[in-house]
Amino acid sequence: MQFQWYPGHMTKAKRQMQEDIKLIDLIIELVDARIPFSSRNPDIDELGKNKARLILMNKADLADPKKTEAWSGYFKEKGCFTVCVDARSKKGMKLIQNEIMAACKEKIERDRKRGIKNRPVRAMVVGIPNVGKSTFINTYAGRACAKTGNKPGVTKGKQWIRLNKNVELLDTPGILWPKFEDQKVGLHLALIGSIKDDILNTEELAETLLNLLMSSYPGVIAERYGVKEEETAAGILEMVAKARGCLKKGDELDYGKAASLVIDEFRSGTIGRFTIEDPKDR
Ligand code: G4P
Repeated sequence: MQFQWYPGHMTKAKRQMQEDIKLIDLIIELVDARIPFSSRNPDIDELGKNKARLILMNKADLADPKKTEAWSGYFKEKGCFTVCVDARSKKGMKLIQNEIMAACKEKIERDRKRGIKNRPVRAMVVGIPNVGKSTFINTYAGRACAKTGNKPGVTKGKQWIRLNKNVELLDTPGILWPKFEDQKVGLHLALIGSIKDDILNTEELAETLLNLLMSSYPGVIAERYGVKEEETAAGILEMVAKARGCLKKGDELDYGKAASLVIDEFRSGTIGRFTIEDPKDR
């Protein structure tokens, strides 16, 4: 399977990001806690140099908590402030406020020395598509606020959402492009559903997923699908197809349907909470 991102989109997204970054003090970068490496674009380090950085490990509800902790440690060592969140719930939101202030401590101190009082920290949310940026802005800022810029008749231009007296957030998130130099990155993004499924070979993807989970989380797949631990991925798909009645016309087994079923169960967290990347490999 080959993965890529249309270069025209990338140039446009990058230019927009460069403009927006000039306006802010803090970059709030969302990554997917299930694949904290592949859901980042490392170009943000260059684009955002000299800015305070906060990494939100989002969709932590679907990720392996132990590995989420390990990844938090990894990002902290790199000098980023980190919070684990589930952007759909209000959980963890209080922590974010504290981390924003901690991340911007130097700027606040600088302002104070210059006699500037109470100038709010300006922040923007960035991340690759589907990582949860809009969900986060809506949950964090409240639905009504986040939508003000989209109403017809509202002047075009930058809209700021005033979160509280200390923080203002740019209402439109910055879209980072995924970086596919390593094909494994593309594969991991495909597994979490960040790449349109219609361009993918579903069976191949499901088999890769099963092999990955069986080696990183022994026993889990065997238990979920009632198969032997040493069963092959193709064998598991066959058993899933039989057990769940995935059939084509003429009663032929529908492996594609069985593959989609397994992938959907992984993405929704039905099989369990998994993180398929390890900071030790970085
Ligand atoms: P984006 O702006 O970065 O492109 O992402 P967006 O907020 O649109 O979120 C993409 C999908 O991820 C949405 O699901 C959203 O509900 C889901 N999501 C966001 N944050 C979390 C989280 O912390 N945990 C989980 N489990 N899911 C999250 P969707 O299927 O596209 O829509 P819907 O299910 O909300 O209808």
